[in-house]
Amino acid sequence: MSSSNDTDGGTAAVYDKIRHLVPEIEWAVHEPLIARINRLKREVGAVILAHNYQTPEIYHGVADIKGDSLELAKRAAETEADLIVLCGVHFMAETAKIVNPTKTVLIPDLEAGCSLADSISAADVVELRRRYPGVPVVTYVNTSAEVKAETDVCCTSANAVEVVESLGVERVIFLPDEYLGRWVRANTEVEVILWHGRCEVHEKFTAADVRAYREQFPGVRVIAHPECSLEVLEASDMVGSTAGMIRYLDEQRPAKVVMITECSMSDNVSAEFPDIEFVRSCTMCPHMKKITLEAVLGSLEHRRYEVEVDPEVGARALRAVERMLEVGRGPRG
Ligand code: 13P
Ligand code: SF4
Repeated sequence: MSSSNDTDGGTAAVYDKIRHLVPEIEWAVHEPLIARINRLKREVGAVILAHNYQTPEIYHGVADIKGDSLELAKRAAETEADLIVLCGVHFMAETAKIVNPTKTVLIPDLEAGCSLADSISAADVVELRRRYPGVPVVTYVNTSAEVKAETDVCCTSANAVEVVESLGVERVIFLPDEYLGRWVRANTEVEVILWHGRCEVHEKFTAADVRAYREQFPGVRVIAHPECSLEVLEASDMVGSTAGMIRYLDEQRPAKVVMITECSMSDNVSAEFPDIEFVRSCTMCPHMKKITLEAVLGSLEHRRYEVEVDPEVGARALRAVERMLEVGRGPRG
């Protein structure tokens, strides 16, 4: 999903959208920061990209482009702005730099990491290739540029099954998310060799949680991110990337829903769908929450923190990302 917010005088309209999420006392702190960020980004010609897990004040207040990892990668590749501020985690900013090597990409806090990206190194991929000669490597974008560079093709949660099937092979190595890999394995005939990475947020959800939601909230529709365990996904009504979840709500309009994913997701989406009742399942990504309005303002004011990718590594990583973008977003999105 994407939209633009292009008037610094528009903060009242922003608050109208999110007043059910942000108390007035907090808004009094956010509002001047939002106005300054929107003014400054226009002055310096920056574009702000924000992942769906960003806080509502960033998502609705200052983001020009919003989306899942796939959408952010695509839109970063298309943008004409010379300065990109990525409100998300480090691998997302690196991906923006990989697809746009001549532009300046900033991340407001360098500590915004990801447990999946931390679970695997380039040397691990080289060793896997040695162990399984000739087997193509499909890598989730939640990885470093160095890991992407050792990869045949990238994927996101929106297109993992389609990317694996696009290779037309019997066996793939799928890195690094074990749970997303299990989901892919359950939805394709292709043999999938797994790595042991986990998302520290999604691994917390259990099938018992899903059953408890159904008991406590009769009729609730359960939609889950594929970084959850297979037991959780099988107990859910729909599985999809963060953007896939939004599309599902737009099309299906269930009366009541629980989103088995990071907590800001329900907050952000509830502002777009006031007719849907959201049961909150709050598990927070501490890395995403390193990005605050103060950090975004500091990023624009001081052009920090610039994301650099070694050009040779970036060029090899780009091949894997471009190959993914050619496959496109599939029906399971
Ligand atoms: P999406 O690509 O579905 O937005 O997921 C990215 C992510 O990090 C989820 O934890
Ligand atoms: Fe990484 Fe999980 Fe946070 Fe997504 S939610 S950025 S996969 S730790």
